[in-house]
Amino acid sequence: MPKITYVAPDGTESTVDVAVGLSVMDGSVRNNLPGIVAECGGGCSCATCHVHVDAEWQKQFDEASDEELELLEFTDAFCAQSRLSCQLIVNEQCDGMRLTVPEGNDS
Ligand code: FES
Repeated sequence: MPKITYVAPDGTESTVDVAVGLSVMDGSVRNNLPGIVAECGGGCSCATCHVHVDAEWQKQFDEASDEELELLEFTDAFCAQSRLSCQLIVNEQCDGMRLTVPEGNDS
């Protein structure tokens, strides 16, 4: 099972197993990690699952939809690495991935 490291807004790192087919958001919520609120439960309508994914890992996922980009643009910590983690489906190649949860998902 792929291991993914989540870096919380306070810098705390947690490495957890996330099953293939789950979303990166699911991996955080199911392990009770801080920072990803996921208010809409994965419906791509809240942006409280915002993460920063390094370019080398972004290629593991489909490109962001227009809907996702529109939501991300309104987040405080929007940048080129921004994605909504509920839209990122884990595959075997995600093993070792490290991503950062920015401040602001709970505001
Ligand atoms: S959980 Fe709401 S947009 Fe991802």
